[in-house]
Amino acid sequence: MRDWVNAAIAKIEADLTRSADTHLIRLDLPALTDITLYLKDESIHPTGSLKHRLARSLFLYGLCNGWIAEGNPVIESSSGSTAVSEAYFARLLGLRFIAVIPKTTSPEKISQIEFYGGECHKVDASQIYAESHRLATELGGHYMDQFTYAERATDWRSNNNIAESLFSQMVAEPHPEPAWVVMSAGTGGTSATIGRYIRYKRLQTQLCVADPENSVFYDVFQDGDRSRTLSVSSNVEGIGRPRAEPSFQPGVIDRMLKVPDAASFAAIHFLEGLLRRKCGGSTGTNLYASLQIAAEMQQAGQTGSLVTVICDPGDRYLDTYYNLDWLAERGFDTGPYRDQLQVFYDTGAFPS
Ligand SMILES: Cc1ncc(COP(=O)(O)O)c(C=O)c1O
Repeated sequence: MRDWVNAAIAKIEADLTRSADTHLIRLDLPALTDITLYLKDESIHPTGSLKHRLARSLFLYGLCNGWIAEGNPVIESSSGSTAVSEAYFARLLGLRFIAVIPKTTSPEKISQIEFYGGECHKVDASQIYAESHRLATELGGHYMDQFTYAERATDWRSNNNIAESLFSQMVAEPHPEPAWVVMSAGTGGTSATIGRYIRYKRLQTQLCVADPENSVFYDVFQDGDRSRTLSVSSNVEGIGRPRAEPSFQPGVIDRMLKVPDAASFAAIHFLEGLLRRKCGGSTGTNLYASLQIAAEMQQAGQTGSLVTVICDPGDRYLDTYYNLDWLAERGFDTGPYRDQLQVFYDTGAFPS
């Protein structure tokens, strides 16, 4: 039993040793005066998103807690990037992986999970948590439960977590200590890691969490009421939740901004013009909030740096956020936000 766990941990560590760190990209925004925005590019992980780090941490946490054992399946309630990354690590360890997903999940997402050997178990969206528990009990498996464990499975002090990595990549920059780090929240795990790290290192950096429409996080941050729920789900895949997930830690967040969904989608189209690359919708949410803060700094005569995150690549969303018919059918009018972002690019001011 211990031999298998030891071998499993060694396989994950070897996988990490084979991996390189993700890039920190400096974005050229010539209208800004001594204010620089950096993008931590988490889309280049082997499974294509920031969830690669989380999946690795969740597997190590499960193994070291004695929750994941030889021959027992691993179950997760996710149809998105987390399930893709967990399927990868399950296959690395020779474990069966079952993603409990809403019936409405796109064939593209299902094929990504299946590509890494995962199985997809389709249920009504409201049933995914209960069904994950039920399956884990019935099959003698382990329910990963990213929404509960994301914040505690990651070593937030060090171990090259996303915060340690991005702050260390800033050391040779003109403003090495960012004025702001901007991130969105799905589980809330990444923002919890960054916020804790900032405090632990006694930095002046402030953490802004950007929230899309159809999410409770913004309101929970404002009034502390964790009991509120929504019956609608977020249009920006990976972020925004209808309930205050246990991993969401408002205590380490300095500010939250609500970002309209059409603004997030406009922001990734705008970014494509600057980077020649397509990024996912949550990257747009991060970018839009970052540019808003950069414009505030410029207006206030402040200088400094900001860091935000490219969460996943845009090729996962060619049929949605990059499809003009899809946007129009759902009433997302990105035009005014594109114009706003262009004015910002040209002048450094953010028209309202
Ligand atoms: C594409 C994408 N962006 C952002 C996030 C948010 O990250 P976190 O769960 O750490 O809050 C997720 C989480 O699933 C995601 O899949």
